[in-house]
Amino acid sequence: MALLTGKSACVLGVANRWSIATAIARALHAHGASLVLTYEGERTREDVEKLAAELGGAPTTAADVASDESLDALASFLGTAVGKLDILMHSLAFARKEELSGKFFSTSRAGFGTALDISAYSLVALCQRLAPMLGERASVMAMTYLGSVRAVRNYNVMGVAKAALESSVRYLAEDFGQMGGVRVNAISAGPIKTASARAVGDFTKILSEVAAKSPLRRNATAEDVANVAVFLASDLSSAITGQVLYVDAGYNILGIV
Ligand SMILES: NC(=O)c1ccc[n+]([C@@H]2O[C@H](COP(=O)([O-])OP(=O)(O)OC[C@H]3O[C@@H](n4cnc5c(N)ncnc54)[C@H](O)[C@@H]3O)[C@@H](O)[C@H]2O)c1
Repeated sequence: MALLTGKSACVLGVANRWSIATAIARALHAHGASLVLTYEGERTREDVEKLAAELGGAPTTAADVASDESLDALASFLGTAVGKLDILMHSLAFARKEELSGKFFSTSRAGFGTALDISAYSLVALCQRLAPMLGERASVMAMTYLGSVRAVRNYNVMGVAKAALESSVRYLAEDFGQMGGVRVNAISAGPIKTASARAVGDFTKILSEVAAKSPLRRNATAEDVANVAVFLASDLSSAITGQVLYVDAGYNILGIV
């Protein structure tokens, strides 16, 4: 039997075929989960609807995490479409392009607020609304990056946002563990060429540096990440919560080599 048969999943963060969320949605579907996909706005609607059609005609709906009204609408959509949710995948982030190069200390107040709001608080806002419909032993996941715990050139305010996201994962894990054994984890992916990643200054240099130095001497792929998402979504990971799992070809362990 497939690992996720009988489980329902909501995946946020598909923008196009390169999105990590696209690989995750495909893998969850392949392992038997029934999906709901969301799109940020009209710009990404068509790509999301196309993917949904490929994945068994998954329902789709708009969800802009910057808007409380939009999140309320998502909660009521999910209430009708699935009733009970077993898997929630948060695979989204945003910072203004001008904050993703140059010196971190030039981050503006507004840019700092936007990055933290969309990339970190959004997980809390989602969990707040979806808590009542999370099934027993449900799995909540979010995507993060090494820039949360290390200073990574040009990642800047997004690193601060990812630190807040990872900390939120731990607090949510503590809250939810006592509510039906719901688990909350983050996947820290190595650099992968996507639209968001390309907004980070010198991103291609980061990619080649990781490929050259990581113990596996390659970059992680969106499919590598998606396989770990399946594991975290499944009962195979039933005692793992509050963790940050690195899927980065081992790059994070390096000191001076
Ligand atoms: N690509 C990488 O190198 C990498 C590495 C580690 C972690 N991540 C993380 O993976 C996640 C997915 O990013 P990706 O690389 O697939 O890029 P992507 O550009 O394909 O996906 C980012 C998504 O965020 C969504 N988004 C932005 N603002 C939103 C809002 N207000 N409401 C709803 N959705 C919004 C976009 O619509 C898009 O679907 C992000 O959290 C990112 O930080 C990416």
